[in-house]
Amino acid sequence: MARQRRTQVENKVDKGTNSSSSNGSNTAKQIKNKSGLLSYWKIIIGCTCLTVAISVGYMGYLETRVNTPYDDRKMVVSSGVDKPERFWGSYRPGTYFGLKSRDPHSLLTGLMWYFPRRLKPGGDGIRHWCEQGDGLEKYGWLQHDGSTFGIQEIQDGPFIITTSFIKRLGGLHGGDWTARVSVDYKFDDPSIIDEEVSLLWYTALEDEGKNYIKPSNFASKLTGVRGETSGLGEFSIKLFNYTGSVNHESYLSTSYLGLDLLKETVISSLRLMQDKKKQKRIVLAGDILGQDGTMKKPPNFIATQITATVPFSMDVVFESGSFGTRQNTLVGDIYTNTLNWHSSRFAQRFDDTFDLKAKGYGPKEISFAQAALSNMIGGIGYFYGASRVQSVYTKDPVPYWKAPLYTAVPSRSFFPRGFLWDEGFHGLLIGAWDLDVEFDILCHWFDLDVEFDILCHWFDLMNVEGWIPREQILGVEALAKVPQEFVTQKNTNANPPTFFLTLQYILRKYEDQLTESRLTILERLYPRLQAWFTWFNTTQKGSLPSSYRWRGRDAHTNRELNPKTLTSGLDDYPRASHPTEDEMHIDLRCWIAIAAEVMSKLADLLGRDGYKYEQTSEYLSDNEIMNKLHWSDYTQQYADYGFHTDSVELKRPKPSPRSQQAQNLEMVRVTLKDPEYRLVDSTFGYVSLFPFFLQLIKPDSPKLKKILDDIENPNLLWTNYGLRSLSKTSPLYMKRNSEHDPPYWRGQIWMNMNFLAIRALYYYANASGPYSAQSSKIYRKLRQNVIDNLMTQYYKTGYLWEQYSDKTGEGSGCRPFNGWTALVVLIMGEHY
Ligand SMILES: *[C@@H]1O[C@H](CO)[C@@H](O)[C@H](O)[C@H]1NC(C)=O
Ligand SMILES: *[C@@H]1O[C@H](CO)[C@@H](O)[C@H](O)[C@H]1NC(C)=O
Ligand SMILES: *[C@@H]1O[C@H](CO)[C@@H](O)[C@H](O)[C@H]1NC(C)=O
Repeated sequence: MARQRRTQVENKVDKGTNSSSSNGSNTAKQIKNKSGLLSYWKIIIGCTCLTVAISVGYMGYLETRVNTPYDDRKMVVSSGVDKPERFWGSYRPGTYFGLKSRDPHSLLTGLMWYFPRRLKPGGDGIRHWCEQGDGLEKYGWLQHDGSTFGIQEIQDGPFIITTSFIKRLGGLHGGDWTARVSVDYKFDDPSIIDEEVSLLWYTALEDEGKNYIKPSNFASKLTGVRGETSGLGEFSIKLFNYTGSVNHESYLSTSYLGLDLLKETVISSLRLMQDKKKQKRIVLAGDILGQDGTMKKPPNFIATQITATVPFSMDVVFESGSFGTRQNTLVGDIYTNTLNWHSSRFAQRFDDTFDLKAKGYGPKEISFAQAALSNMIGGIGYFYGASRVQSVYTKDPVPYWKAPLYTAVPSRSFFPRGFLWDEGFHGLLIGAWDLDVEFDILCHWFDLDVEFDILCHWFDLMNVEGWIPREQILGVEALAKVPQEFVTQKNTNANPPTFFLTLQYILRKYEDQLTESRLTILERLYPRLQAWFTWFNTTQKGSLPSSYRWRGRDAHTNRELNPKTLTSGLDDYPRASHPTEDEMHIDLRCWIAIAAEVMSKLADLLGRDGYKYEQTSEYLSDNEIMNKLHWSDYTQQYADYGFHTDSVELKRPKPSPRSQQAQNLEMVRVTLKDPEYRLVDSTFGYVSLFPFFLQLIKPDSPKLKKILDDIENPNLLWTNYGLRSLSKTSPLYMKRNSEHDPPYWRGQIWMNMNFLAIRALYYYANASGPYSAQSSKIYRKLRQNVIDNLMTQYYKTGYLWEQYSDKTGEGSGCRPFNGWTALVVLIMGEHY
């Protein structure tokens, strides 16, 4: 996925992020103008210049293709306030706790906190964005239904912070909500008695225009906010203490340094003062007119700081002006009771969906599964902005059009943005959170429609070529987390088309739930899916019929032991050692095979002509053709094909005797034996299993038997914690790819692939064939191992992880990783 994990810098503060926007219709106009110009020239200049004119016009046309939208008719026709149940939400997954609305220029609200006694110089200790460096013992949603409420628990040293919110629909602007923040001690430790916490609740305007916010004192006495925006109308935000009393209160009303610099804005305004009891306090500076102190600018950032003795809890009440009359305010005991009601409803719904009690799971396992689901759903964000893209026809990166993206994210700390291939896996779990139990119109449950909503947003990001950029870095907050050199997306580069997996799942499991409105969405999606399919089928084609090749490998690098294949999603998984245009990738072939199968099914469902897809699907899943290109008779496994040698090493070049900087030479790859065209069959791992993962092998194929035997073999892939990515016998098992790149997909256990393995075992267990009993046996063992290890590690470390060690089962990579690791819920519920 081009995660480029190790090179990412967390909390990078980058102010040079303003990118001019190009909007789609302008680009389309540009093209029209160009061709108009062209015909004009034809007449007046005559035909000698015609060839020049055409190539100028054509180059211009090619240049603009990369950032021309597929179509002016968008998939997302209603996204904002007309879907009130999804309008407000915890759509800022990169912060510990923040709410915004699905509106390009939303009002942002959120929480920062610190413990005054523990605050270090420079504001070190103020929590805001999810940072691994904060070293929190744990944070994550315990329950979250994606539309009405959520409860999160955060452990920060000896303290437990609970954040929750509830929405109440009503009026014309998305309704009200209340958020509660509670702070308590984790355990009784006499040394931490009477500690104070400072909670900062802030409100920021992204787009000023006619909008405004201003500090305001309500009956609650604490400083709140009053304001009006075009999307929200008039509103108020009031703060109430629920338990405990407030020792000190201060506020800040100013204009921020940058939307991605809210914490820095707070830090720059902290002051030290003595209160009435002669106690030194860190306070906010009140009204500051502009950061230079002179400019009179209306405030776009207001924060209230409440300092209180732990235990303490406060309610933040957002009320929409158009709501009408309220029976009561959602605060205090009313809030507590409503939250309890939502919480028990959630538990009931969860059980109805995944049936874990019936499967013999106890409260501990169920809490774990609820948290895994809730973190996937609580990780859904709403972003708005433009990617930067590049094609061979553009000299420099150019801005994509500005667009919204409603998507889950792989990791709130490390990858708080949309990733194309991750999202297809997320879709399996999000789609499953749909219930056929009676639909209670009052509580607006999260359901399959959310997955459709996400799909629509992603497919609006398709350009006229049928390409969707694989990493979506939209908006100032998202950009601030990515180093500049990784921002640009190239239109030659693919990423596994996992949305076909989501669609396959929906067609298999939920065909009976494809209501009129959902079918309409699929109808509108269909041409885009066709374009997407064609983009893969043509741009990623291999040199032999039915073969495919990932683009984007670097054939010229001498730093990498095996040039990475970021586009495949499996970054450093070893492929042919010397990338050439003649290599063929088995995993990509399988992805396209199921893409064709899904297209054919979908065409059927929608009454379209799917003959072409059916043919391609049959052709690509023909085991004999696949075996000819990819089965190694020698090692009895599926493999990539390419220009390859195993005899490569990283070596530090010998300094020339006269060289001054001898010690600084970087290691380079040395090829000890010439590569040759062959199957890359000394390497065995996830890629070799794709025909099995995607269920393309016929259930009675003896090759299935060999694969099952290999899976079970502890010298190859089997561990007590799941299947490792690369066999212990592979030459590059757990090898560094360069001095700076530790192994990533070279042995570690990954959950998306284990999910595919478990799903395939279930499929072959149920298919009648000679290997059904063996599949069933391995299914039960692997499923148990994966569930046990993830749960053990979760309770030990507080998190789900990006990957797990094949030696100890311990989490590694980044955390929390509530993207595809959360598929464990489907494994527990046997929802495949
Ligand atoms: C907070 O709660 C206490 C106890 O209910 C109350 O006495 C006090 O007035 C409230 N307000 C503040 C600002 O502490
Ligand atoms: C995919 O590409 C192959 C040629 O590489 C072509 O024969 C086939 O018809 C294409 N499939 C579809 C559905 O367009
Ligand atoms: C499918 O296979 C699994 C695993 O062996 C088994 O638990 C399940 O009962 C099977 N289902 C059917 C319908 O045969």
